[in-house]
Amino acid sequence: MLETNYLVIGSGIAGLTFAVKIAEKFPKRTVVIVTKDSEDESNTKYAQGGVAVVLNTEEDSFKKHIEDTLIAGDGLCNKEVVEMVVKEGPQRLRELIEWGANFDEDNDGNLDLGKEGGHSEYRIVHHKDLTGAEVERTLLKRVHQLPNITLLSHHFAIDLVTNHHVKENNKETLSCYGAYVLNEKTGNIFTIKSNATLLASGGIGCVYGHTTNPVIATGDGIAMAYRAKARIKDMEFVQFHPTALYQEKGESAFLISEAVRGFGAYLRNGKGYRFMPDYDDRAELASRDIVSQSIDAELKKSGDNNVYLDCTHLDIEGFKKHFPTIYDKCLSLHINVETDWIPVVPASHYLCGGIKVNKKGKTTINNLFSCGECSRTGLHGANRLASNSLLEALVYAHNIYKHLSKKDCKSLNVQIPEWNDEGTVIPDEHVLIKHNLKGLQALMRDYVGIVRSNRRLKRAIKHLDLIYKEVEDLYRESKITASLCELRNMINVSHLIISQSLERKENKGGYFNKDNVKNK
Ligand code: FAD
Ligand code: SIN
Repeated sequence: MLETNYLVIGSGIAGLTFAVKIAEKFPKRTVVIVTKDSEDESNTKYAQGGVAVVLNTEEDSFKKHIEDTLIAGDGLCNKEVVEMVVKEGPQRLRELIEWGANFDEDNDGNLDLGKEGGHSEYRIVHHKDLTGAEVERTLLKRVHQLPNITLLSHHFAIDLVTNHHVKENNKETLSCYGAYVLNEKTGNIFTIKSNATLLASGGIGCVYGHTTNPVIATGDGIAMAYRAKARIKDMEFVQFHPTALYQEKGESAFLISEAVRGFGAYLRNGKGYRFMPDYDDRAELASRDIVSQSIDAELKKSGDNNVYLDCTHLDIEGFKKHFPTIYDKCLSLHINVETDWIPVVPASHYLCGGIKVNKKGKTTINNLFSCGECSRTGLHGANRLASNSLLEALVYAHNIYKHLSKKDCKSLNVQIPEWNDEGTVIPDEHVLIKHNLKGLQALMRDYVGIVRSNRRLKRAIKHLDLIYKEVEDLYRESKITASLCELRNMINVSHLIISQSLERKENKGGYFNKDNVKNK
């Protein structure tokens, strides 16, 4: 058993920002960060475009950024939350710069601002096409300078500890007391007891197989919170990024940043026709839901596997300067951006819903907080505006820190039983995990994709139930492994996506069911 004041699950922008702030403020209090892979592996590390912040107040304004966010969210954003996040953006970004983050500057030494889909102005702060890696590097460096933070990599959080587990079960208020954690190197499962627990465990892209997300994005935090009976909301709003690089083989998709369209690239179908102006006045710079749905419609019409991103008319030296990683990646696949079109296809990218929190990042369980992609704050509504995710994580990590700074940290007087794995055996049927994972991903891709229907969703629920039962049996009989837990978590998350999709009777933002009507 390990005891700490603050347990942070996840080492992306959300978890690390909170950890740094609270550890700096209270040098005598302890913070434990658990993260299931190497310390920097996260969606954050792969973020390309940047952070949306209003800095150029001559052309831009909070009002415009708020308006763009509300339009992208298609009427389902919480306006108060949008205003709060947009207005706090500049201050939170300044802190990141003070901690050492380097963002690109223009010739006058001002921050260079990019543009992306759905934004009416240039406001994306970036570090080439490696913004997330720069943010992750900065935050980890700061974490390692703070002696009251312990970072445990390759440690997998299995489940939250709540009243349900503790001996003096106070049934009145559902509270969180920490988590059960698997040391992936030794196989040992131990308890971390904490005054406050922060779920900052990121997204769910891997439930779809074909995703821009790395393999860690299996929705663990959302599944843990769901099993602990926290409120989970807006799970039907999965965002598909319009332009993932199309490759015949392979599930994990390399992203061609939206900033490339902001730089002037065109989308063309297999016949070379530039189709986006037919779908939206903003053409390639319409919001992501519209561009992805338009590509899907083009592909259904033509039967092609992909459309193309045409950059051949752009200033190639400028392109290389802004997007060196994308340029090199394409070249490694014999695509010369100067002369060839880039084959692209939509891929699952981001979850707008998640664990419901209030403006202080509080979940519906006492002492349990959440921020970053696993949380549902109300900022994104039915569709997230590009580059608003890193911004949201910075703002909510700060709000949770402010809230917890006002609370004392008395020792917790609860008895938590050790994890009990009596009677379980080491699984020798890894093929069951692999097979069910493939089945789950195929089901989500084919029945719960960009365009849904009631018939497909109902079929998906039925098939999912079979997978669920087989995996629950395996879970009960087996000694815990990370891959088994991830599969179980992805099944929970898929169930939430499908059941909440079935509840939605009107199409909004990123949610499109061909049996529904679009109501504005
Ligand atoms: P993450 O950064 O994903 O971190 C989650 C952490 O939790 C990881 O460390 C993970 O290992 C850990 N974890 C998960 N489960 C467990 C468990 N069971 N036990 C222990 N640890 C666990 N957004 C923008 O705003 N701008 C962009 O330009 C942008 N570009 C993107 C490009 C790509 C390719 C992708 C995939 C996303 C992009 N996004 C962008 C979205 C944005 O990067 C993410 O939403 C954001 O980084 C999420 O941060 P986070 O801290 O919530 O989660
Ligand atoms: C991108 O660079 O296209 C991703 C931006 C985002 O997800 O916000």
